[in-house]
Amino acid sequence: MVSVPEIILNSGHTMPLLGMGTAVYPFVGSNAVTSAILRAIELGYRHFDTAALYQTEQSLGEAIAQARHQGLIKSREELFITSKLWCSDAHADLVLPALHKTLRNLQLDYLDLYLIHFPVSLKPGKFEAPPPKEDLMPMDIKSVWGAMEECQRLGLTRSIGVSNFSCKKLSDLLLNVTIPPAVNQVCLRWVHEKGVIVLVKSFNEERMKENLDIFDWALSEEDSQKISQIQQFRAFPTDDFVSVDGPFKSAEEFWDGEI
Ligand SMILES: NC(=O)c1ccc[n+]([C@@H]2O[C@H](COP(=O)([O-])OP(=O)(O)OC[C@H]3O[C@@H](n4cnc5c(N)ncnc54)[C@H](OP(=O)(O)O)[C@@H]3O)[C@@H](O)[C@H]2O)c1
Repeated sequence: MVSVPEIILNSGHTMPLLGMGTAVYPFVGSNAVTSAILRAIELGYRHFDTAALYQTEQSLGEAIAQARHQGLIKSREELFITSKLWCSDAHADLVLPALHKTLRNLQLDYLDLYLIHFPVSLKPGKFEAPPPKEDLMPMDIKSVWGAMEECQRLGLTRSIGVSNFSCKKLSDLLLNVTIPPAVNQVCLRWVHEKGVIVLVKSFNEERMKENLDIFDWALSEEDSQKISQIQQFRAFPTDDFVSVDGPFKSAEEFWDGEI
């Protein structure tokens, strides 16, 4: 079984450098997702990435319960589980209830990492993807982050972080925090050799094995050169989160001109 190297986050907790993504569009969990995750645990994956948006929290929770039952893992501590706060819950008073719901879905007492999924809020009460443009609203990041810090203080998550934040938004956030974010999860076509934590998604067994097999060999100089010439898609497409009447009117504004 492959052993995945880990890094230490600023929270003091470790995080495996390679994780398995569970986002499948259209978003829906299923027995097939549970089976794929269970097989991934057998192959050595220990780090899993989900989100309220993906609707795979329950499938992942079921796979973890089965893995424990079958003795594939001895304890919850062996896993690193990330989930994300959806935009309609990105309001100070809704963060804790959203995390409780996520934990119920996952059948877990705590997350390893809880992320603000996008730097934008939606009117509360609805759960729609793609979100209705008229529901987009600016996030009160100071109070939402305060609620995320409370989640960590309560022991409901070991680390907290953000996702799809530009460097500017991250720098602004850092000016007003007690607990700094441990992670900014972004969708960049970087590779393990660039020193970032990689999330791979495959529910195909052979490709799951291939994606784990990256730790005992290196790319040649020539291959690295060729890869660096491939056009980079530098960030997650944000069309769903920009609107003439919303907090961000263009992708450039969303990313503060960094893409
Ligand atoms: N925070 C965010 O906003 C955000 C945004 C995007 C993604 N993510 C996370 O990152 C994960 C990965 O997302 P992604 O956008 O990189 O992946 P993706 O778009 O889901 O792409 C993965 C695709 O590549 C195929 N694949 C995987 N390994 C392969 C291999 N070795 N050879 C050939 N094909 C292979 C998979 O097909 P098969 O399943 O058929 O193998 C799948 O269709 C997501 O599941 C999610 O957890 C987060």
